[in-house]
Amino acid sequence: MSALASVLLQKIKSRRARTGVVGLGYVGLPLAVELAKAGFHATGIDLDPRKVKAIDEGRSYIPDVTTADVQRLRDSGRLDATTDFAVVRDLDTINICVPTPLRKTRDPDMSYIVSAVESIATHLHPGLLVSLESTTYPGTTEEVVQPILEATGLKAGRDFFLAFSPERVDPGNPTFQTHNVPKVVGGLTPTCVELASALYGAAIETIVPVSSTRVAEMVKLLENTFRAVNIGLVNELALMCDRMAIDVWEVVNAAKTKPFGFMAFYPGPGLGGHCIPIDPFYLSWKARQSGFDPRFIELAGHINSGMPHYVVDKIAEALNTKRKAINGSTVLIAGVAYKRDIDDMRESPALDVMGLLHARGAQVAYADPHVPEVHAREWSGRVDIQAVDAGRGSYGQYDCIVIITDHSSFDYDAMVAESELIVDTRNAIKAPARNVFKLGAPRPEGEAVALT
Ligand SMILES: NC(=O)c1ccc[n+]([C@@H]2O[C@H](COP(=O)([O-])OP(=O)(O)OC[C@H]3O[C@@H](n4cnc5c(N)ncnc54)[C@H](O)[C@@H]3O)[C@@H](O)[C@H]2O)c1
Repeated sequence: MSALASVLLQKIKSRRARTGVVGLGYVGLPLAVELAKAGFHATGIDLDPRKVKAIDEGRSYIPDVTTADVQRLRDSGRLDATTDFAVVRDLDTINICVPTPLRKTRDPDMSYIVSAVESIATHLHPGLLVSLESTTYPGTTEEVVQPILEATGLKAGRDFFLAFSPERVDPGNPTFQTHNVPKVVGGLTPTCVELASALYGAAIETIVPVSSTRVAEMVKLLENTFRAVNIGLVNELALMCDRMAIDVWEVVNAAKTKPFGFMAFYPGPGLGGHCIPIDPFYLSWKARQSGFDPRFIELAGHINSGMPHYVVDKIAEALNTKRKAINGSTVLIAGVAYKRDIDDMRESPALDVMGLLHARGAQVAYADPHVPEVHAREWSGRVDIQAVDAGRGSYGQYDCIVIITDHSSFDYDAMVAESELIVDTRNAIKAPARNVFKLGAPRPEGEAVALT
């Protein structure tokens, strides 16, 4: 190990290293907090002044991070934030946690990574450890990040250190959070892995070193593609069960009693969130660049992206039993966040379902205790729409209620008792009821059955 590397290693071990995190979102803020808790000084860098201000004021804006933690760490001088990349000059390590969305064409949008790395490059100095955490296609660290940083004249692996370590945060998960989810680390050189592992090992319980940045990049895409493909499979099974009048929920719950060789995935109204609907397309894009046609990813994407249409067909079918059309009906969407008990509605299938209903003439309202407003730009209805208060006594006013996100705070008993019709896409309502139409399950007893 070079003298430069061993100085950094000692700084990390003694917690004298000054750490930085670029991008203080769902991934970056929890990481900065863990680094600060581990005894480092952590500086967050974000272009959004509102996030920097929140940290300055000792306030958290991410549900998985408590304000008490941010306040305590800020007060003890361990955590601060800035919009100014000049601070990189004083840092020993920097983790990059900026967004990696898709373009409209489903190609990777690398602009956030490129912009962040260019800003770091302006202040790059010998001895800095740079670790990319944004989910991205295999090869990004070597093909995109390294050349930008080396354009400064400094060489990766010799003058500065470069790693990739995928983030596995699961927002809203009370058991597994940044500190106790094993962290995969790949480096450009063995020294890069060793340094990055030492940094993460200070804050995270288990480190899993791998042989290269490409392997680490691919690990993350395998994990998320595994989910996308299995959800695609169970969604197809739900469509099949719908046709065959079998309850897919009962099938999955019975299948999961097998103690080996099976893992339960559940159907739903479509994929949501920043990861599962997006990341597999980073992989398929890169595979195609190598002349490989990735069929599972495309097929799962096809099935999963069709689910909101199936939900709308189900709503039409339910309304039909009451001699009503979607056009002119009042429909309450229960839950717009992409999963239970969180406030994130990025890529939420609720937005697609709302847009499709709106296009067919429904009057759409939504209830979500975690999302007070859906902005015009976020759904195709193109108007700002505020959440309605939904609770006991309020459900009877709609022609149909559609459970898209099964938040635990909804009163499902009241919903069943008061509503004319419910379309349940999450199996939130367990007992059979005459007014509940479930995704992937037989129609309620006594209703007209329109099997094709
Ligand atoms: N949210 C998750 O559950 C999750 C889980 C695993 C991996 N990831 C991956 O982690 C990465 C970050 O995701 P996120 O959910 O934290 O995103 P986010 O949108 O919550 O946060 C990203 C932050 O980066 C900031 N930013 C953007 N460009 C910047 C720049 N050039 N300089 C400084 N700051 C900049 C934004 O202002 C924002 O605060 C993505 O690649 C995502 O795929 C996310």
